[in-house]
Amino acid sequence: MKKNKINTDFLHVGNKLLIWYKNNGRDLPFRQTKDPYKIWICEIVFQQTRINQGLNHYNNFIKRFPDVKTLAEAKEDEVLLYWKGLGYYSRAINVHKAAKQIMDDYHGVFPNQYDEILKLRGVGKYTAAAVSSICFDGKIPAIDGNFYRVLSRLFADDFDISSTKAFSYFSELAHLILPENVGDFNQAMMDLGSEICKPKNPVCGECPINEECLAFSSNKTSELPVKTKKVKAEDLHLKYYFVHRNGQFLIQQRKDDFIWKKLFEFLPSITADLEPFIKNIKTVNHKLTHKNLNIEIANVEVTSRSVWSDFIAKNECFITDFDASQEKSFPKPLENYIQNSLKD
Ligand code: ADE
Repeated sequence: MKKNKINTDFLHVGNKLLIWYKNNGRDLPFRQTKDPYKIWICEIVFQQTRINQGLNHYNNFIKRFPDVKTLAEAKEDEVLLYWKGLGYYSRAINVHKAAKQIMDDYHGVFPNQYDEILKLRGVGKYTAAAVSSICFDGKIPAIDGNFYRVLSRLFADDFDISSTKAFSYFSELAHLILPENVGDFNQAMMDLGSEICKPKNPVCGECPINEECLAFSSNKTSELPVKTKKVKAEDLHLKYYFVHRNGQFLIQQRKDDFIWKKLFEFLPSITADLEPFIKNIKTVNHKLTHKNLNIEIANVEVTSRSVWSDFIAKNECFITDFDASQEKSFPKPLENYIQNSLKD
């Protein structure tokens, strides 16, 4: 830690943020509660999804699964269905498993200590810090990309945020400005990072801590934070067969796989007797966080009743149609394909 940062001038920054948050914080439904279940779900939902995009899904999810017990007792397919549209389905599978964990290991009572919250399935340091500070007055900063950016700029600090040491380095820096109310402070940082101290074109004129911000006074906001390593996305090729007849089509469910766990998909292979029915092949590209997918989808319209029945009898698959498929969760590019091919 650079010694010159330990300067009492920075101690009031946290309190300034609290005042700003009180007057300017976003009015969000989960801000009216300290129910750890709801805060936990909101942290998972909004980790990789913008508030505007996820708010309806969050509200619907909470309406259907208002507490840990209801979620733990639900079927996994239904939990996936309610997660539809939010993507990153492994998060849905994890919240479901964690709800069961709370029922089994904590008698259905949400744990109130950071270290215990961290043991829940799918909960990392950021989420555990957010839940413990917002709901249980825990004193731990919730460090995510927003946090790195605000602190790098505030202290004009070029410490590489992609370094493995970034987490402990910025945790230590955060303690220089941590006020008493860490729950509100964490949420103030989230709002500041997304509304004011944005990655590109930050609105420094409206920032409550621009007087203290060393990047602002030295005109370095556009250079900070420093991030040297980029995770390179891997190219992946997938092939699917959209096998259909009279509005019905064939699907299967993915296993606990490396992508799209437990989601439904078209068939990855067909038998030779279906090949003559291939009408056309469409190619779509789709980006996941660390993968560039190139997906070929063959449109196989089986006009022969006997070939269709024979194939279904000999291969493991489900038969569905447009309406029934809407009750299941598909990866986005396959969902789009269904919408385009069968809607009317
Ligand atoms: N993003 C994730 N959690 C949030 C919260 N509690 N407030 C605002 N944005 C968030």
